[in-house]
Amino acid sequence: MRPEFQGARRRAQVEAGGSLRRVDLPGSSGTSGHAGREPLPATRDARRVDQGSIETPTDPARVVAVAARRSAAAALARVAALAVAAAPVTAIAWAWSAWQRRRLATPAGARAALVAAGVDLPGPLRVRVLGGGRANAVVQVDADARRLVIKRALPLGTVLARAARSVGPQPFPAALDRGARIDRERAALIRLAAAGVRVPAVLGVDRRGHTLVLEHLAGAPLPRTAPTPGFARHVAAYGAALAAAHRAGVRLTDGHPGNALVTADGAIALLDLEMAEVDRDPARAAFDLAYAARYFFAGERAALIAGFTAGGGALEPAAMAAMAARIAPYAWLFDRERARQRAWP
Ligand SMILES: Nc1ncnc2c1ncn2[C@@H]1O[C@H](COP(=O)(O)OP(=O)(O)O)[C@@H](O)[C@H]1O
Ligand SMILES: [Mg+2]
Repeated sequence: MRPEFQGARRRAQVEAGGSLRRVDLPGSSGTSGHAGREPLPATRDARRVDQGSIETPTDPARVVAVAARRSAAAALARVAALAVAAAPVTAIAWAWSAWQRRRLATPAGARAALVAAGVDLPGPLRVRVLGGGRANAVVQVDADARRLVIKRALPLGTVLARAARSVGPQPFPAALDRGARIDRERAALIRLAAAGVRVPAVLGVDRRGHTLVLEHLAGAPLPRTAPTPGFARHVAAYGAALAAAHRAGVRLTDGHPGNALVTADGAIALLDLEMAEVDRDPARAAFDLAYAARYFFAGERAALIAGFTAGGGALEPAAMAAMAARIAPYAWLFDRERARQRAWP
């Protein structure tokens, strides 16, 4: 556990008279919780509190409120300090990335990217920008009867990934440069496809240009299906896909539901694997689940966990709780991103 989180836990322990007993999933409202969680013996009848984090025999609501406020304030302060320190580099990366994004969104730019990646797509090209991410330029390319996706890792993504690692909620990835992100995504896509997990096929790669050419999958981002009656089923299928990825030895690391697509036949496809790593670390598996769960409301989270366990995923409540505590100070970030994902056009 990183020192700052240990600090938050220690503070909570001190405030609670030294008896910190459980760190639960952040965001649990306490109404439905999640299925499959074994109550820890010491906390069987412990009171649940808002944001469901730390429970103690003495005034748990106060302990949670104080610890969450302090760790969130500390996290915000660290993010702000880094933003100021990295402002010049960020400005350059932003301008360079904006230029690359604009270029890829033109037929000439898309054509050059396809040629460099060794993909032959005859005929005039029509290009449409996909997604709203800042880390990558992602476009859909249409030519006659064929539709492809080009994904290019951008310099701004390196800056953002570094920030997420040093002061944000993603401590795991080692290399973060554009080449490493493209290599990771390609390796994970190939491995998952071989294991029968639904992902877009890799059709071409241009490592020098930090570009992948992918099969286009028709579908809707999972969060956008939230208003539909099938949403709980889709969330459960997403949990099962996460379990299948883990069984294949892949940890997603950035497996938020905005990176899952509900395909035309109702299956879930996993996308955006630039942080995914072939790794069997159970702590990272627990991180994936706690991280994905943070984007759902309590009832939806129950469907996620049910799908994960039904898909053969190993549920480690204690490890998940520790990972949930690790990302808890970033609640503001997760809530903002969740709202953004559900509002995508
Ligand atoms: N192969 C694909 N087929 C269909 N849509 C895709 C595909 N790859 C990406 N997209 C769409 O583009 C969005 C952005 O792509 P993604 O790989 O998540 O990059 P980022 O989030 O880093 O910008 C996805 O959320 C998805 O909606
Ligand atoms: Mg994405």
